[in-house]
This record gives sequence, structure tokens and C-alpha cells, in this order.
Amino acid sequence: MDLKRFLVFAAFLLHAALGFPIQENYENSTATTEPTEVTTQEDIYESPLPTETDEEDEDIFDKILKVNKDSSQFLQEGDIVPRRSRSAINCRHCNWPQSSDGIVRIPYVLDPTYEESHVKGIHDAMAEFEALTCINFVKRKAERDYLSIRSADGCWSNYGRVGGGQTVSVMKGGCMWKGVIQHELEHALGFLHEHSRSDRDKHVKIMWEYISPADRPDFKKFENSNNLGLPYDYSSVMHYGPYTFTNTTGKATIVPIPDGSVPIGQRQGMSNLDVAKINKLYNCSRCSTILDGPSGSLTSANHPKNYSDNTNCVWLLRTRSRKVSLHFQAFQLQKTRGCQGDYVKVYDGSSKSSPVLMDKTCGSKIPNDIVASSNLMLVEFITDGAHTASGFQATFTAVRRQRRSSIHN
Ligand SMILES: *[C@@H]1O[C@H](CO)[C@@H](O)[C@H](O)[C@H]1NC(C)=O
Ligand SMILES: *[C@@H]1O[C@H](CO)[C@@H](O)[C@H](O)[C@H]1NC(C)=O
Ligand SMILES: *[C@@H]1O[C@H](CO)[C@@H](O)[C@H](O)[C@H]1NC(C)=O
Ligand SMILES: *[C@@H]1O[C@H](CO)[C@@H](O)[C@H](O)[C@H]1NC(C)=O
Ligand SMILES: [Zn+2]
Repeated sequence: MDLKRFLVFAAFLLHAALGFPIQENYENSTATTEPTEVTTQEDIYESPLPTETDEEDEDIFDKILKVNKDSSQFLQEGDIVPRRSRSAINCRHCNWPQSSDGIVRIPYVLDPTYEESHVKGIHDAMAEFEALTCINFVKRKAERDYLSIRSADGCWSNYGRVGGGQTVSVMKGGCMWKGVIQHELEHALGFLHEHSRSDRDKHVKIMWEYISPADRPDFKKFENSNNLGLPYDYSSVMHYGPYTFTNTTGKATIVPIPDGSVPIGQRQGMSNLDVAKINKLYNCSRCSTILDGPSGSLTSANHPKNYSDNTNCVWLLRTRSRKVSLHFQAFQLQKTRGCQGDYVKVYDGSSKSSPVLMDKTCGSKIPNDIVASSNLMLVEFITDGAHTASGFQATFTAVRRQRRSSIHN
């Protein structure tokens, strides 16, 4: 192996170690955690905005801290604006209100200095909340409480709704990553860092010997945290990385227990449990699943028995590199004209405003394989109030970019 190939390979291994979260076996779906083949540089697919350059060895929180080092804003735990009142931790009155239709609409205004690519990046990060939860970010009209998303000095946010216009700082040079934007928006929704949960000592060991006294408060544990009855999540977008605030190069400050090799500090965006927690905190009745890994499978509920009436489920398929390819193995849905009853629809991206890859499909003909243009694909399954069938079963994998076919075919 020449040096270049070796470096690419080493970067990939590091990338894999940092990047692959553990999987939750959620909603009758699985995703494998091991890459199936060695990736080449061309295949390493990340989607930083054009203004950001990717460092292969940085997780989300590394990026946040790097930028906030120079911030003049006083911050707790690295990126949280302290509250004036002291009893903030359960944030009982700081959730955003739910409308009678079940949607939680959070008004926002964007910094006028953002360019088109920044606005697109922020909208993409928001669209995932909309596809997977009942949180909708809406342009502010005259609402009293709203988010002012600005390119201030760093990546930071308040915790929960504080009243009036509250800043979420998403600085142009350094915070324009989907995972970073989602992390700061989750703080504004009322979420703390995952490792500050009351039960964290059962899941991670804090290595105080590598944390300088001044940084110790950043590892505070909140005894009264609202854990929502959902498990601790090493793969949360709200989890620090292993080396956060270390004062000794190479020495981790947070080590998962009992298995120290479990990856923490991811870089892809919300995890499946992050989504479940938002849906629980905000009482959203959503059926949504993130499948994160180089390959995996999904089935309609109860398959191969019949699915239920009146369901509405989405799966966000997210591979680490290359493009998602979806392959149906079984397909049997109520057949209606124009598939207005039960149907499966597939989008090229992570939201329902992404381009459509496969329009409403029903009946019993197995659809052709579908390849997305990136590492993200959204699968939607809707059923009406009458007639059911056995539903579908499908697998997905990450595939290489299609080469342009030869001229002499
Ligand atoms: C790191 O932090 C520990 C614990 O606070 C301290 O004893 C040690 O001297 C620090 N090391 C360095 C290099 O600052
Ligand atoms: C959650 O929503 C259901 C109906 O959608 C409602 O009956 C229930 O009271 C809500 N709970 C809370 C805590 O808002
Ligand atoms: C998963 O399976 C359980 C039990 O079979 C079912 O109640 C649930 O609705 C299923 N979820 C989805 C998303 O298919
Ligand atoms: C299950 O779906 C099949 C069509 O695929 C239908 O003929 C059958 O009646 C359904 N069974 C039930 C119990 O709804
Ligand atoms: Zn944070």
C-alpha cells in the first residue's frame, strides 16, 4: 500500500470508529454496524456546506468547541447560554407550545447575512425535524417567542424556550454542519447533553484526572434530568465526544462502560433515539425511524401478517458514504386507482420536500431498485381506513457512484 492509500485507509478507519453509532433495534427494523467493504477516498461522503472543510477526526462536539474557543459569550458545558433563573433543569415551563393539530410550530428568523448555501444548510437540518417529529420550524410573523438564528460568535444556544427572541448562534465559518445545527436546535427545544443525565454513571465513566478544575463544571450531572423513560444513547447528537475538554492529548475524558470501545460523539445528525425523545417530550404521535449504517432492512408493521389501517410511518435511511440503494424483497399493498389508499413513496433526501424518487406505489408488483443521489433516503408508508395486505420488506445498502457508461456500449 503506498502512503496515500494508507492515509486514506487510516482516515477511513478513524472515520468509522468515530462515526458508526450503536444501533437501536427500533420499530421492526435493523441496520448493521460494520462497513462491508473498504472505502476509497472518492466514496467518503460527508456533506459539509461549501464553506466548511471537513477534518476526518472531528466529531460534532469537537467542531463546536473549536469554534467556541474564541467566543466572548459566557457558556456552560461548552455551548449553552446560562439561564438567569437557577432552577432550570427540568425546564417544565420552557417547552414550545403544541397547536391543537398536534404540531409544535417554532417561529424563527434568519440572519440576513447568511448566504444561500447557509440558508439551505439550516433548512436541511430543520427539515429532518419536520419529517421525523411534530416540530416544525416556521418563519416568524408576529409571535412573541421565537428563535433568532444568527451568525454570532460560535455555535451555542439557550436551553429551552426562554421567552422573546432568543439567539441560536450558528456561525458561518465553523458551525454549518447538519449535526451541529441540530445539536443547537435541540438545546433550544429543551434538551441537555446526553452525558449529563442523572443515570450517566451507569453508562459512562468520567475521567476526572484528565479534566482541569476549570472544566469540571462542564461535566456536571443533573440529578433531576427528565430522561423520558428512554434509554441512555451513546449515539445521541447531544453526546460529547471521547476527548472533550481533555487536558492530556490522547486521554479520553468520557469512557463508555462496560465496553470502552462503544463509539460516542457522532457526526451524522440526530440519532433514532434523539428523534424518539423529541416525540416523547412533545407528545408527538409519530411513527418514524432512523436507520443508520452501511446496510439494513425495514418492513411494514407485522409483516408478513397484514399491516393496520390508518398508519403513517417514515424511515430515514442514512449510510455513511456513497449512495443509498433500496431493494424491495416483498411488496403487497391494497391496490387503488392512483394509489390513493395505501402506498409507499420514496424521497431523494431526508424530508418530504426532497425530490421524489418513487411516487405513490401500491398493488403487488415488486418495485425496481431505487438509488438516491446521496447517502440519505426517506421512505414513507401510508395506509387508509380500509383494506390491508401483507405490506413490504426491503433492504438497503450503500452503493458506489454510478460510473458513466462506456461510449461503445
Ligand atoms: C489535568 O488535570 C488534572 C486534574 O485536574 C491535573 O491534576 C493535571 O495536572 C492536569 N494536567 C495538565 C497537563 O494540565
Ligand atoms: C398528548 O396528546 C394526547 C392526544 O394526542 C392527549 O390526549 C394528551 O393529553 C397529551 N398529553 C400531554 C401531556 O400533552
Ligand atoms: C413494530 O412491531 C410492533 C409489534 O409487532 C408493532 O406494534 C409496531 O407498530 C411496529 N412498528 C412499525 C413501525 O412497524
Ligand atoms: C390480509 O390481506 C389480504 C390481501 O393481501 C386480504 O385478502 C385478507 O383479507 C387480509 N386479512 C385480514 C385479516 O385483513
Ligand atoms: Zn451542546
